[in-house]
This record gives sequence, C-alpha cells and structure tokens, in this order.
Amino acid sequence: MLKTLLGASLCFGVVHAHLAAWHKGMYCLNGNKAGQDLNSYDIVTPLYQLSFNDWWFHHVNGCDNYPPADGDYINLPAGGSFTIEIGSNRAKTSLSYGGRDMSDWPDGNTYPEDYNVPSCITSPNMHAQNRSMAAGTAFAISYQSDIKAVTPENLVVFSVRYNTPWKRVVVYDVPAAMPPCPAGGCICAWGWVPNNCGQPNMYHQPFRCRVSGSTSNTPLAAPKPPVWCENNSGACTKGAKQMVYWNQNERNNIWVSGYDAAGDFKSPTYNAKLGFKDGAQNDIFAGPASSGSSSSNSGSNSGSNSGSSSSNGGSSSNSGSSNSGSSNSGSSGSSSPSSNSNTSNDTPTNTSNNDTTNNLAPSSSSSSTTSGQKNSAPSCQNKRRRRRSLLDIDVSPIKRSNLIEGVKAHRRRASAAPAW
Ligand SMILES: *[C@@H]1O[C@H](CO)[C@@H](O)[C@H](O)[C@H]1NC(C)=O
Ligand SMILES: *[C@@H]1O[C@H](CO)[C@@H](O)[C@H](O)[C@H]1NC(C)=O
Ligand SMILES: *[C@@H]1O[C@H](CO)[C@@H](O)[C@H](O)[C@H]1NC(C)=O
Ligand SMILES: *[C@@H]1O[C@H](CO)[C@@H](O)[C@H](O)[C@H]1NC(C)=O
Ligand SMILES: *[C@@H]1O[C@H](CO)[C@@H](O)[C@H](O)[C@H]1NC(C)=O
Repeated sequence: MLKTLLGASLCFGVVHAHLAAWHKGMYCLNGNKAGQDLNSYDIVTPLYQLSFNDWWFHHVNGCDNYPPADGDYINLPAGGSFTIEIGSNRAKTSLSYGGRDMSDWPDGNTYPEDYNVPSCITSPNMHAQNRSMAAGTAFAISYQSDIKAVTPENLVVFSVRYNTPWKRVVVYDVPAAMPPCPAGGCICAWGWVPNNCGQPNMYHQPFRCRVSGSTSNTPLAAPKPPVWCENNSGACTKGAKQMVYWNQNERNNIWVSGYDAAGDFKSPTYNAKLGFKDGAQNDIFAGPASSGSSSSNSGSNSGSNSGSSSSNGGSSSNSGSSNSGSSNSGSSGSSSPSSNSNTSNDTPTNTSNNDTTNNLAPSSSSSSTTSGQKNSAPSCQNKRRRRRSLLDIDVSPIKRSNLIEGVKAHRRRASAAPAW
C-alpha cells in the first residue's frame, strides 16, 4: 500500500506540473474528491477564459467548497512575515509524507541554482526562462469571514514577492499597520499571472487567514484595479490595489496590448510593471495608523501556525513608517475594527465583459484578419521569440477544447508567424 501511494505521488507530479501555493490554511488542501488527500493537485490548474463564477476562487472545479480544517489558517503577524510553499502537488510539499517527496523546488526535483532555459522552463511549469524572469506572486486579504462575501472590490493585495514562483518556499511580508480580522477570521487569496512562456492565464486561490499582533485599527482602503505603468511610475494606481484579473470571459479588471520594455508581449504581472512594490504593501490603508482600543484580536488565536504572537496588548509602539504615501484616504476617521466589515456597499461595479480580443497580440503583427472573432484565442505570447510545443502549454483538461479552438484561431490569424 505504501508503494502504491509512492507511485501515485511521483506520477502526479510529473503529469501535472502547474503550480499553486500550499498551506494548511488553504481551501482544497485535500483536493475536490475523496481519496486524494496527500496527493491532491486540483488547485493547481490555471484559470483561463472562464466565467466569473468559475474562475473566482477556483470554483471551476469546486475548490472553494473545501475549506481548511477548523482552526487552520495562515497567521499574518503584523510587521512580520509568513511562509507558504509553491508546489505542483501537495505531495511535493511538507504537507504530505512528512516532506519525504519535497525538494528545494516546487516539483520535488533538483535543478541548478542558475537554472535557465531560453525557450522557457517547463519543469516545473513556472512560466519563466530563469529566476530573473519569474513574474512575481501576491497575497491579498478581505476583512470578511465568509468566503461568499469576498468580492474583487474588498480583496486587497497586501504582499508581493518578486521573482516567484521559483523555489518551493516563499516568504511574504505583512504590513505593520494591518488591523485585526473580525472574530471569524479573514479570507486571503494567492495570485499569480505568468509572464509569457505559455498560455496567458492566471491563478487565484482562497485561504483562511488572521492577522496577529495588530497595533492599528485603521481599515484597508477600497482597492482599485492596477494599471500598466512600466517606466512610467506616475501612471501607476496609487494605494490599495485589487488583484489582477485578466483573460477571463467576465470581470477582467485590466487590459494590456503591445510590448513591454523587454520586448515581450505585455503581461500584467505582480511587480513594478503594475506599480506593485516587492514586499509588504504599506500604502493600502484608509488613513494613518491608529492604535485605538483594539480588543477584538485577543484570545482566539489558536491557529495551527507557528510563530504567532497573538498578544494584542496595548503596545502602541507601531512603527509609523509603514503608512507613508497612503494617498488613498477616502473617508478617514473611524477606525474601530468593526468598521472593517463593509461589504454591504460592495455591489460589484461593472467591470464589464471587455472583449478579450483586446488581449490579443499587438495589431502590428500582421493580423488584420482577426475581425469578428470573439474570445478567439489565447494571445500568443512570445511568438516572435519563443516556440513551444503544445505540450508546453498549460492545458487544463477542462478547457482543452477551448485551447484547441484557440490554437486554430491563432494559426488562422498568424499565418506568417510560426505557430507556437
Ligand atoms: C534570463 O532570461 C532572459 C530572457 O531569456 C535573458 O534575457 C536573461 O539574460 C536571462 N538571465 C540569466 C541570468 O540567464
Ligand atoms: C470600507 O468602507 C469605508 C467607508 O465607506 C470606505 O472608505 C473603505 O474604502 C471601505 N473599505 C473597503 C475595503 O471596502
Ligand atoms: C524600463 O523599465 C525596465 C524595467 O522594468 C528597465 O529594465 C528599463 O531599463 C527601463 N527603460 C527605460 C528607458 O527607462
Ligand atoms: C476595454 O478595454 C479597452 C482597451 O483595452 C479600454 O480602453 C476600455 O476602457 C475597456 N472597457 C471597459 C468597460 O473597461
Ligand atoms: C455592464 O456591461 C455590460 C456590457 O458592456 C452591459 O451590457 C451592462 O448593461 C452593464 N451593466 C451595468 C449594471 O452597468
């Protein structure tokens, strides 16, 4: 029986090399069906050209219906950091088999420190040529305890790590001024938008989380969508930003076209190109840090997470530096923890279904036959510089037909360019 499990774990890691963030506080830790558990990988499939209902929190395969066990959540120490693992399968992390099948890398294998594949690394499928090209990933938080109450408009990016995904272990920083969560905890999300090297998709997965050691009660500001601002920092969205939602059939919040400074097709990644700093996002608050009488954070910090400094005593020695530049002070003032839970006015605004052809390759690329195609194709990133076999592309089984349609449409359009 042990042998069966071992075989299964090795096999899954090879077949499905997509990546996700792993932590006991995640949804879908055990997968979406009975019997997977230690070998689950349902959460790793990328999200592409889906309806809002399907892409939001990976509902496409029901992952949002599988919350973590009671008491499991990511502990977010205000002003500190937390650790997650990036892996292709739970078996390749410390969460299975006591870490037997894990390595320093997301798929349990070993690679050179200066791993570099000019035609794109596909094992693990990190959508990059080398570390410096790795897109960046982000964590966001919503001060809602019910995952159903979380919307793009109350989910705020609070931490970014440049040049990830790369190795298995990733550490994210928490802003010092993070207020405490409601008694039932917060919902967090991990996001990744690859920087070319394959299907231009995205990753979006839910977690339970809680802030510990808060010294401020100032709530987060309402986040705005990020915008492309590479080499033009004045154009960046200032302050609290939403996660990046693109190339879906509904509720995209960013559209890009043309080339980035490196000469690749623009991809809206979690880094300076969208105005995200590396590390804690300290400009996301609705006003200056305020150490009111915070009380709701004490006590219930029984999470599975080590290193929690749960005491939220009156120490108001908040390192004030954290809140500079918060140009986003909408309605400042009241900063009681209870004011964090403002969903009622969260009716989603119409980030309307912008035709995804806006995301296609720049019009300069001899593609004038595109007109009339709706949602036609993956925008064929890299076609100038990189070729990929179909196998290199993130193919979610669910959307395989969609992709093949996309490939055909792409070939129709890009007759002059090499197909993939
Ligand atoms: C990383 O990949 C990019 C794109 O291929 C390349 O320009 C750069 O020189 C590479 N860096 C290293 C350290 O290999
Ligand atoms: C919460 O509500 C306040 C007051 O309406 C608003 O200023 C703030 O941006 C809201 N925050 C979020 C995260 O929705
Ligand atoms: C634009 O930004 C990139 C980094 O995103 C940098 O490498 C490049 O030198 C910049 N170009 C100019 C003209 O500033
Ligand atoms: C759709 O995309 C275009 C260009 O990419 C942008 O100008 C426009 O504002 C978007 N439409 C909506 C409704 O956001
Ligand atoms: C949202 O946008 C769609 C497409 O542009 C439009 O048909 C619809 O009326 C809009 N809905 C609202 C509530 O504005």
